[in-house]
Amino acid sequence: MAQRVRACSVPTRQAEGRARRPSYTARMDIAHLRKSYERDQLDETASAADPLQQFRHWFDQALSAELPEPNAMTLATVGADGRPSTRVVLIKSVDASGVVWYTNYHSRKGRDLEQLPYAALQFHWVELERVVRIEGAVEKTSAAESDAYFATRPLDSRLGAWASPQSEVISSRAVLVANAARIAARHALSPPRPPHWGGYRLRPERWEFWQGRKSRLHDRLQYRLDEGRWVRERLAP
Ligand SMILES: Cc1cc2nc3c(=O)[nH]c(=O)nc-3n(C[C@H](O)[C@H](O)[C@H](O)COP(=O)(O)O)c2cc1C
Repeated sequence: MAQRVRACSVPTRQAEGRARRPSYTARMDIAHLRKSYERDQLDETASAADPLQQFRHWFDQALSAELPEPNAMTLATVGADGRPSTRVVLIKSVDASGVVWYTNYHSRKGRDLEQLPYAALQFHWVELERVVRIEGAVEKTSAAESDAYFATRPLDSRLGAWASPQSEVISSRAVLVANAARIAARHALSPPRPPHWGGYRLRPERWEFWQGRKSRLHDRLQYRLDEGRWVRERLAP
């Protein structure tokens, strides 16, 4: 049965102040939060043999459903100490060569990928009761590709790429504002791409498509590379 995608409402700080605070007990009582997933299904006959095609199909549906930020994905990396960490980034292209996002190469994730160039990506399209997971090796996009994308960004974002020493400890927000003003004065309307800012491309070796189903009997289709060919398999939920 098709469900309507409801717009979510975000409380403002003022509204939060006015609202009665829930009691400590109420806030901690989360064990009962659960829902039954009944929107759709995913089976071997209706899914594409090629995972990229399947992803495009689901991504188009996420766009049509007007989900908030359907291109936001969680990116997991592993640090030199062997510990994983995650953060959200925006996918900027996806094709047969891989999945691309942009960031600061000196950031925590950048340092992680320098040491261990493998990552896992995850989209959670809550309203569609769907998850897509992608895993594989990661490499930097070419300078030309990063330049081309950087040039399409709004001016504020281009200045921001210079102004923010991403993931470093800073003494206050004023540091960012001062950096941005200095960069704007130096480069006016055409800041070049910072050498420490650019793209990464993950070349998928494994995809998984998860569709929530009733009674926790969810559909999970995994695609893994076997001698250059995609093998599709069902995983137990
Ligand atoms: C919706 C959303 C989209 C984001 N997109 C990006 C992005 O494309 N690139 C990026 O570097 N950070 C992005 N961020 C910020 C990251 O989540 C993160 O704070 C930042 O990259 C630093 O992560 P790190 O210290 O683990 O390297 C985004 C955050 C959100 C909530």
